[in-house]
This record gives sequence, C-alpha cells and structure tokens, in this order.
Amino acid sequence: MLQVLPRTHALFLVKEGDLRSKLAAAALGQEWVETAPIDIIICAVYERTVGVYGERGYRYVHMEAGHAGQNIYLEATALGLGTVVVGAFHDDEVRKIIGAKSNEHPLYIIPVGYPKQPYSIEEEDLWDYIMSMRKKTGLMED
Ligand SMILES: Cc1cc2nc3c(=O)[nH]c(=O)nc-3n(C[C@H](O)[C@H](O)[C@H](O)COP(=O)(O)O)c2cc1C
Repeated sequence: MLQVLPRTHALFLVKEGDLRSKLAAAALGQEWVETAPIDIIICAVYERTVGVYGERGYRYVHMEAGHAGQNIYLEATALGLGTVVVGAFHDDEVRKIIGAKSNEHPLYIIPVGYPKQPYSIEEEDLWDYIMSMRKKTGLMED
C-alpha cells in the first residue's frame, strides 16, 4: 500500500502485500475492488478544514473529495482506463485494513482498471437513460 505525499508529489510505501480481497470484503463484497489493479482510497482529516472554516468545513471536505474523485474519473478516461467510485463500505474495517489513524476517515474507494470494452454512449441514449431513471425514482411522471 502506497501513501501519496502531496508536498513532494511522491509515493510512500506504507504496507507490503495485496490488500484488495480484504478491502473488497469490507466493501460488501464488491468484486471490482478486488479485481482492479489498483484501488485509490481518499480519506478525510476533518479537523484540518473545520479548524479553519468551522462547521462549514465538513461540507468543504466532502466537496473537495468529490473534486479529487472527479479528477480521477477524468484522468482514467484520458488514459483509456475505467473507474467507479465506491462509497458503500464499513469505515472501521477499511481504516483497520489500510492502517489509517482514528482521525483519518475513508470517504471513497476508487478502483481503477482496464475496461472490458471501451465505453461510449450516444447523447440520445444517455438522455433516455436519465429520463428512465427519473421515472423509476418518481421524480417525473410518465
Ligand atoms: C458518492 C457515490 C458513491 C457510490 N458508491 C457506490 C458503491 O459503493 N457501489 C456501487 O455499485 N455504486 C456506487 N455508486 C454508484 C456508481 O458510481 C454509479 O453511479 C452507478 O453504479 C450507476 O452507474 P451506471 O449509470 O453506469 O449504471 C456511488 C455513486 C456515488 C455518487
């Protein structure tokens, strides 16, 4: 397991070995967490931001994690790779597996891998999908 060191743009080896199957189990058995070549985990340290912005800092942390996640989607797409954000997991188990401290809260597991087939969709099909989901969730009538 590698940790990103933002100041030096470096990777630091934290733990040897393959943690993916344990991580997948902690993520309710989501198989892509186990089969993807890498999983990127984004953890929040709330007090850093809340210490500056007060209660509003909580929402800023979640916005910022979303930005980082979106950048991973964009970069993966640019490289012809596939990704999906995973938010369904047991926090304490993930924290234990990766050896995070008690103030480091995992928000995202982001598996990145090779898509089985390149993803492409026509705008019209995408629109049909959005509309079908809105109907399904009762946000729009037939
Ligand atoms: C913050 C967040 C967390 C998510 N967590 C999961 C997850 O743990 N497992 C999952 O299958 N989908 C999760 N999703 C949904 C997927 O990212 C994706 O939107 C969903 O699978 C629909 O994909 P599709 O439109 O390509 O079918 C999450 C979405 C968001 C925005």
